[in-house]
Amino acid sequence: MYRMEEKIIDETKQGEALVLENSSANSRKLYLESYGCQMNFSDSEIVASILAKEGYNTTSLMEEADLVLVNTCSIRDKAEQTVRKRLEKYNAVKKINPKMKVGVLGCMAERLKSKFLEEEKIVDMVVGPDAYKDLPNLLEEVEAGRDAVNVVLSKDETYGDISPVRLDTNGINALVSITRGCDNMCTFCVVPFTRGRERSRNPKSILEEVNDLARKGYKEITLLGQNVDSYLWYGGGLKKDFKNASEMQQATATDFAQLLEMVAVAQPGMRIRFSTSNPQDMTEDVLHTMAKYKNICNHIHLPVQSGSTRILKEMNRQHTREEYIKLIDRINEIIPDCGISQDLIAGFPTETEEDHQDTLSLMEYVKYYFGFMFTYSERPGTMAARKLEDDVPEAVKKRRLTEIVDMQRKHSAYRTQQFLGKTVEVLIERESKKSTTDWSGRSEQSLVVVFPKEHYKPGDFVQVKITDCTSATLIGEAVGQSKL
Ligand code: SAH
Ligand code: F3S
Repeated sequence: MYRMEEKIIDETKQGEALVLENSSANSRKLYLESYGCQMNFSDSEIVASILAKEGYNTTSLMEEADLVLVNTCSIRDKAEQTVRKRLEKYNAVKKINPKMKVGVLGCMAERLKSKFLEEEKIVDMVVGPDAYKDLPNLLEEVEAGRDAVNVVLSKDETYGDISPVRLDTNGINALVSITRGCDNMCTFCVVPFTRGRERSRNPKSILEEVNDLARKGYKEITLLGQNVDSYLWYGGGLKKDFKNASEMQQATATDFAQLLEMVAVAQPGMRIRFSTSNPQDMTEDVLHTMAKYKNICNHIHLPVQSGSTRILKEMNRQHTREEYIKLIDRINEIIPDCGISQDLIAGFPTETEEDHQDTLSLMEYVKYYFGFMFTYSERPGTMAARKLEDDVPEAVKKRRLTEIVDMQRKHSAYRTQQFLGKTVEVLIERESKKSTTDWSGRSEQSLVVVFPKEHYKPGDFVQVKITDCTSATLIGEAVGQSKL
């Protein structure tokens, strides 16, 4: 499994209309599209939940919608261009249905704020990632014929009290957000500006959500945060509730390893995943917790961005190449069958051929299972944009990216081949895209596994013996049900 540029998410379909079970009490129609990271998809579930209470049912037909919302991504210029194209499409539909209102949500809303209303005449509403609870008020404004904007970022909003409606309708996998925002300030990244300061959600509300998902029959949850390892909940309150550092330290805190353990213990029959880990904050406690509980999947998404210590420093990543390698070694010692995946950026400002070679040699060392690889895209307002010239020519960035992707493809093939003849546990998620007689699911390492359906059904945990593979997929046959 290797992906370039456009695809950031494994299973979620970018830009596909999100459709829910409808309530007969609701009369208005919402067309809701999402782009970008898993956090955006999780946020869309919160938005859909808030709007269901405002009388909206979802629809997959934009033409019949009263309200069109697009949850947007700013991470790279290309992501924003995709959304701009969609806005043109909405504009065309609005010409046929002038009553239709259009709202922009998420990171582009936050980044461009009211510029949207000026530049893109078709937009009626602009709502940043921390302002979704204000949607009912904003919609009233819109209905009264006024433009509505709320892009205020919050220090404590976690939407912990909103029970999201699930938009991934397979009823098997669910996203549960545990932190919002990011304090890391990687110099290339727009997220700290669009999603604000990092805050952790109350573990109690996380557990309630997980238990509720278990009751509804979900089989796998992914704990989400820009940087899950820095999850920290202070006793009864938020950081700001304490007078000083020592008072805060005295309060009982829950860190990520403890949260992970709480969730794993609460639902032993459910698979637990998490994303994303940041090398600088990942503790050995987390690794030991993963090793201790069978239901925590042995997979770590561990973005590295570059294999050159000099570039990592320019990126304001708080670790060196050597420290990253040490962490990889510890993961392999503590969790021998752990799948490790990456994010990498080719052509960060000042990157030399030597730096690029460092990235390739690091990849050779780790042999990632899969990864998400990008060319550097300068984002306005970030430290890199302010301080560094985007000086690697586009053609060079592309060539380096191709080399990185080729290497990943080789390693993915190596990793899948290691499974030949072995038996892996698979959670069945859906029908295979290529064959109606096969199921598709994932191994603990998040590798896609395809095998004949027989009498099994989605949501079953099955032992599958691997008989064949491609660089992205394991192919096999079921040898029995497993219980987790
Ligand atoms: N901490 C986040 C990172 C979000 S962005 C997470 O957990 O997923 C996802 C990836 O996009 C980053 O890891 C990085 O590899 C890439 N990225 C971020 N900003 C970028 C930029 N300006 N240009 C190219 N790629 C970028
Ligand atoms: Fe961005 Fe770095 Fe945070 S990549 S989301 S600033 S960890």
